Amino acid sequence: MDGNGRWARERGLPRIEGHRQGVENVRRIVEVARELNLPYLTLYAFSAENWRRPAEEVGALMGLLEIFLERYTRELEQNEVRLRVIGRPDKLPERPRACLDRAIARTAHFTERTIVLALNYGSRQETLEAVRAYTEAVRTGRENPAELDWPRFARYLYTDGLPDPDLIIRTSGENRLSNFLLLQAAYAEMYLSPVYWPDFSRAHLVEAIEAYKLRERRYGQTGEQVRPPTPEPVLHK
Ligand code: IPE
Ligand code: MG
Repeated sequence: MDGNGRWARERGLPRIEGHRQGVENVRRIVEVARELNLPYLTLYAFSAENWRRPAEEVGALMGLLEIFLERYTRELEQNEVRLRVIGRPDKLPERPRACLDRAIARTAHFTERTIVLALNYGSRQETLEAVRAYTEAVRTGRENPAELDWPRFARYLYTDGLPDPDLIIRTSGENRLSNFLLLQAAYAEMYLSPVYWPDFSRAHLVEAIEAYKLRERRYGQTGEQVRPPTPEPVLHK
């Protein structure tokens, strides 16, 4: 979700107003995702590097997170949407963290739809933590490195139990992953939209999904291997 700041500055508004509109858009897009029956939607809300922004902006973002969760937890419950977090939410300030814990606990039993918030998330940090936990498991005899394969290692990532993303959308015209799901994105399809996040609408999401449907995902194979064979022509005499 990129472009909140630019959205605001281009209108002569403070950056925080862009974030406010961005939060409004999260609500709309979560609703659209539900209509479209998307089982998982992950939103990169706050990166491990975003702490480097001016303290005032960080504080405002934390306040918005808190307000969002306070107002929105009931809606999640009514819509039977589970909330999960990836990242290090334990490092967030007390109040948004409490709202987060509450929202997660109240929606943990829903299984059909999941919204994942990436909060204080960084892919490299996630990888280091996974390696640390894995090597500790080796040291204590719970893991055997000779048996290590990808599914086993993936259990040590924040995303344990979540499928890899099929489609990654980045808004605002930037062409970077910015430390987002680097390992999980191995075979993700990318969709780069020039639209600033507050303006990223239902129509834009539908367009991204339509574009995704036309992609051929080969996972290292050839097109011939993954395409269903064209049927032999029937000859009429
Ligand atoms: C994305 O908008 C929101 C967060 C990262 C919290 P930005 O704040 O990055 O907006 P730009 O990139 O300055 O336009
Ligand atoms: Mg940005």
